[in-house]
Amino acid sequence: MDHSLDPKKLPKHLAVIMDGNGRWAKQRMLRRIVGHQKGVETVRVIVEECSRLGIGYLTLFAFSAENWLRPKTEVKALMALLKQYIRSETTRMMQNNIRFNVIGNRADLPEDVNREIQATIDKTAANDGMLLTLALSYGSRQEIVAAARRLAGEVAAGRLAPEEIDENAFTGTLFTAGIPDPDLLIRTSGEMRISNFLLWQLAYAELYFTEVNWPDFDKHELARAFRDYQSRERRFGMTSEQLVDTPS
Ligand code: FPP
Repeated sequence: MDHSLDPKKLPKHLAVIMDGNGRWAKQRMLRRIVGHQKGVETVRVIVEECSRLGIGYLTLFAFSAENWLRPKTEVKALMALLKQYIRSETTRMMQNNIRFNVIGNRADLPEDVNREIQATIDKTAANDGMLLTLALSYGSRQEIVAAARRLAGEVAAGRLAPEEIDENAFTGTLFTAGIPDPDLLIRTSGEMRISNFLLWQLAYAELYFTEVNWPDFDKHELARAFRDYQSRERRFGMTSEQLVDTPS
């Protein structure tokens, strides 16, 4: 454990936009897929470290709804990497008491990938350590629209009154129902955008951007992000003075 980190003040839910695999590879005159392969190694390291540190929820943006527009060969390679990752990590998830979860439009994913996902979700369902969520074919606007449509359907069917649509009802209709909002979002590779990731859920999250590309992100970079997070004052719209009286 990094001694400058306060274990009591770590984020309960960490969300990550893993960016820069392609640039990492390009800088080394390698194919983009090599960057993704190296990115998977980083995923392994960060999942293990977060679990060790007692992070409750880790959500990784692994494939966006828009990523289907990438060249077919890259999409295929990413799907193959994903399948391989899920298959090879199930044992380690069991050893580390990690529960596996996916958010996004699973129906868009190839059948074999979906089978692998379901098998791992089922196998890890009784684990009560960290919840590892991969966002796959995920788009936050699509998620919000789908939630609105579902709630409208409930109203049309007479099962829900319009007045009953409040923040809780909405939150409970998203893919992330039951998961607390992220406390911290990390995005690697110097881009400072949210890119259609957890738009509703990130309302009060602290944002941390680093120039480091995802394949070069490691435990030390993670500790740096956590130190930065711990130096921040989260006010949730209140004043500093009010916070003194608020238990954290
Ligand atoms: C961003 O790099 C990364 C992705 C689009 C996918 C992230 C995927 C992985 C880390 C590997 C597979 C994931 C798992 C969980 C097994 P980029 O290609 O956008 O990089 P660039 O912006 O430099 O081109």
